[in-house]
Amino acid sequence: MPSDDEIRDGQRVTWAHLAAGWEKWDSVITDQLGPVGVAMIEHLGLGRDHQHLDIASGTGEPGLSIAALLPHGRVVLTDLVAEMLDIAARRAAARGIENVETRVCSAEALPFDDATFDSISVRFGYMFFPDVATATTEFARVLKPGGRLCASVWVKPEENPWTTIAMQAIATEVAVAPPDRDGPNMFRCAAPGCVSAVYQGAGLRDVAEWDVGVELVTDSPEQYWEMISEHVSLAVAALAQVDEATRERIRAAAIAMVGAFESDGKVRVPGLARCIVGTNPD
Ligand SMILES: C[S@@+](CC[C@H](N)C(=O)[O-])C[C@H]1O[C@@H](n2cnc3c(N)ncnc32)[C@H](O)[C@@H]1O
Repeated sequence: MPSDDEIRDGQRVTWAHLAAGWEKWDSVITDQLGPVGVAMIEHLGLGRDHQHLDIASGTGEPGLSIAALLPHGRVVLTDLVAEMLDIAARRAAARGIENVETRVCSAEALPFDDATFDSISVRFGYMFFPDVATATTEFARVLKPGGRLCASVWVKPEENPWTTIAMQAIATEVAVAPPDRDGPNMFRCAAPGCVSAVYQGAGLRDVAEWDVGVELVTDSPEQYWEMISEHVSLAVAALAQVDEATRERIRAAAIAMVGAFESDGKVRVPGLARCIVGTNPD
């Protein structure tokens, strides 16, 4: 069982490596994950002058969308990986969003005073934290009394063909070890109530969770594969182990499988996320 530091080191390497793929496919990813960000924002109780903290911001969402809603407020975008936050800063500049700053830090050790923020968002970050309970206690510490925390995670693989198709194609050629149940992986927090229980353990009240559908839309099966193979960590790691001929067979298998999702000249592959909201006690 790796230590928490080893998990963080592994995550740093993984996400620094994936950053270029996330930047290249930014508009496709933004459209796919947008409905989850919107659902989270609706439950954060945002005020125009709020101080907001976005955890595991990656390339900046939903923090940048939140900043655009806070004309008199400010958003701090945080992530373990500088390469991801550099993209977030470029995206902020491109959109003319000035009320944001970036800070490299781990979710379990936040460099902020107690009760600093009115609200906190964590979109698709929880699955990668070595210690979700410690991280949530940190979020409660830096939240003001009455402030809201809203996170999202992926629901089980069967509900997320946008990624499982690629993994099935890879499995036709590569023996992929099942992920460590308690280690970082996309589906680690998929069980209903998993994150809610952690919120309750950190003392949050009015905890609720609900599911939000997403759709990955690409121009073609070929573009689907190019995108997935350049930004999904499991796929990138598996493909790095094989030679060119094997990669080509995997690509062909994925393109054949995803063809079932073609409609109206596009490829539309569904997925399902879960949002979890809670409030810091007064
Ligand atoms: C799937 S990306 C999510 C990015 C963004 N929030 C979004 O929804 O588009 C996950 C992010 O979690 C970050 N991460 C992994 N472990 C972390 C940790 N212990 N503390 C903070 N961020 C972490 C990664 O660097 C990566 O940028």
